[in-house]
Amino acid sequence: MLKIMSIFAGMKKLLFILLILPSFVFAQNKVLCPTPPMGWNSWNVFASDINEKIVMEIADAMVSTGMSKIGYEYINIDDYWHADTRAVDGKPLVDTLKFPHGMKYLADYVHSKGLKLGIYSCAGNMTCGRRFGGYNYEEIDAKAYAEWGIDLLKYDYCYAPASRKAAVERYTKMGTALKNSGRDIVFSICEWGIRKPWLWGAEAGGSYWRTTPDIFDVWSGGNLWMMSVMKILKRQQGLEKYAGPGHWNDPDMLTVGNYGTGKATSAKGLYKGMNDTEYQSEMSMWCMLNSPLLASCDLRSMNEATRNILTNPEIIAINQDKLGEQATLIHKAGKIWVYRKKLEGGKWAVAVLNTSGKEETFELNTKMLDIDGIWKTVDVWQQKEAGLLSPEPTKGQTGELIVPGSISLTVKPHETVVLRLEKFVAKVGY
Ligand code: GLA
Repeated sequence: MLKIMSIFAGMKKLLFILLILPSFVFAQNKVLCPTPPMGWNSWNVFASDINEKIVMEIADAMVSTGMSKIGYEYINIDDYWHADTRAVDGKPLVDTLKFPHGMKYLADYVHSKGLKLGIYSCAGNMTCGRRFGGYNYEEIDAKAYAEWGIDLLKYDYCYAPASRKAAVERYTKMGTALKNSGRDIVFSICEWGIRKPWLWGAEAGGSYWRTTPDIFDVWSGGNLWMMSVMKILKRQQGLEKYAGPGHWNDPDMLTVGNYGTGKATSAKGLYKGMNDTEYQSEMSMWCMLNSPLLASCDLRSMNEATRNILTNPEIIAINQDKLGEQATLIHKAGKIWVYRKKLEGGKWAVAVLNTSGKEETFELNTKMLDIDGIWKTVDVWQQKEAGLLSPEPTKGQTGELIVPGSISLTVKPHETVVLRLEKFVAKVGY
């Protein structure tokens, strides 16, 4: 009898190993961001002035503006949600003046809208805003975040040692704690690209990593710690191969729609913001580069132009393309930069960016794109066909031009024209 019971117990153990363990291991290796995450982050617009009421209203706005329908889902609270100190047992505490009902309540609310809630901490002793950091509290914090129902953690790198070795250790520690927390929590690495996180971020558990210091609401100029859009774009060159499903380069949040009013990105009035053409370019390039799309303007009061930029389905489809190929800068002609991004199903996206302050005309052909054949093009922002693109002009029997050798584009100052290319199949008898 005893023998039968122990055989039975052994079988139960085996069954556990065969059935439960693989799903546990699978959960551990689950790809959390197969396409770049989309959502909103509080930092650019509100900086330290963030609270429960704003977060709930932003969640409402994400739904009522149609953003959630098109794929935006994360509502990320950045720095300054913390109480002055941790609890005596080390658990993280929330500033109850700003978040009177606590994080669990907020997560439940955000989840009830079909959205997800993100939070922020830091691999140092303090966050960049000098609130308590996560260093040495990784397990306690990850457990608390899981209990609160948090879905994403942005982990900063202020008040932490400079070396890459230390950074890798600290990020790996938090990445592992999140993996063991019992909840799927996306890990966003934010050490500003200084220690080449594209080389180690995925292994540390990160789904995406910042490639630069903070974005500011300005087209060009800026400085080493206040990055303009152009400065950020230049820094993305060479990082293309590190992006792919589940692991993305992050050129920081979008400034679209802030018009110089963002509490963090105007640098106390130093930067007056950009115009809609420039915001449209920022969105275009972030989509071409597979960047996480984290809007950071006040969704409750954004104007029509901002909403159109943030919700254009064609440009978002390019960002969310399943191949996850980051665009490369393939051609430069004076101030015109041409980027190419491979899409699913043999298609391409092409962005023609006018980096100059005056209008430019530009002839786009397939030779400079290094692709063969004839292509149908759709202008993504105009949402209309933009003609056929071919290596050279094709003439009919009587010498009439059937397919021009190039497409002539007029590109406004700082504008980006984005085309989607699909192989042209000639009809029989054409
Ligand atoms: C750093 C980060 C920003 C933001 C602030 C918060 O500067 O890079 O994105 O999170 O800290 O203090």
